[in-house]
Amino acid sequence: MWLKKLTVDENTVDDILDKLTDFFKAQKDLYGSELILNRKLSDELPEKKLQAEKTESAKEPTIDENLGQLTTFYHEIKGCMKCALGATRTHFVFGAGSAQADLMLIGEAPGRDEDLKGIPFIGRAGQLLTLMLQSINLKRDEVFIANVLKCRPPNNRDPQPDEIEKCEPYLIKQIEMISPKLIVTLGRFASASLLRTKSALGTLREEIHNYNQVPLLVTYHPAALLRNPQLKKQAWEDLKKISDYLKKGTNPVLRD
Ligand code: URA
Repeated sequence: MWLKKLTVDENTVDDILDKLTDFFKAQKDLYGSELILNRKLSDELPEKKLQAEKTESAKEPTIDENLGQLTTFYHEIKGCMKCALGATRTHFVFGAGSAQADLMLIGEAPGRDEDLKGIPFIGRAGQLLTLMLQSINLKRDEVFIANVLKCRPPNNRDPQPDEIEKCEPYLIKQIEMISPKLIVTLGRFASASLLRTKSALGTLREEIHNYNQVPLLVTYHPAALLRNPQLKKQAWEDLKKISDYLKKGTNPVLRD
């Protein structure tokens, strides 16, 4: 049997317990009474989390080795002060994942946890997102996760039009560098702001859109799924659509 001794202080143990509790809550939210554990769970276990937390002070995004271009870009923009959020952020949240990802997921803006750590989608909604990806056999480090805004709006207020205008070029450049097969926007806000539409999320989910010549699908924000578990059925349909799309490499006719 594989055993390893790890000595940590009491606060770290509490922190690990909190994280495991959050993880299993998110697991329950997604799968109800079925406990689905697979080998990928080991990625979330304490030792790896501790390691991640130790290296967090380096404030580098967790992205692949051979991503010179993206890393250079990160260093160019991480000190951005183009809007007022630069003054209130703890960390600039560049995005995380593979620089060669086929799938890019885009949320709204960093929340409190993300601002503190500099990594997107690591709170409760982020844990659910990780499980959603796992349910279609994707790991976080195989996709690229980013937000419309790179800095947290105070008290999680809605991003303002001028903030989006200043920040969106960064996202567009990341998309150009990563060149994903598919973009998935998470929730009404990211979808509506990137697609410049006021249409309802339900309507937007029905089509493949075009974002700067990249196919874009719309699905629910994991935080919405935590609030409204009845949406999980539709979210699962979207996940299957995303997975089929990535497998088939469908080349749709893009509409503006
Ligand atoms: N919600 C988002 O839209 N983005 C994050 O990074 C975290 C929560």
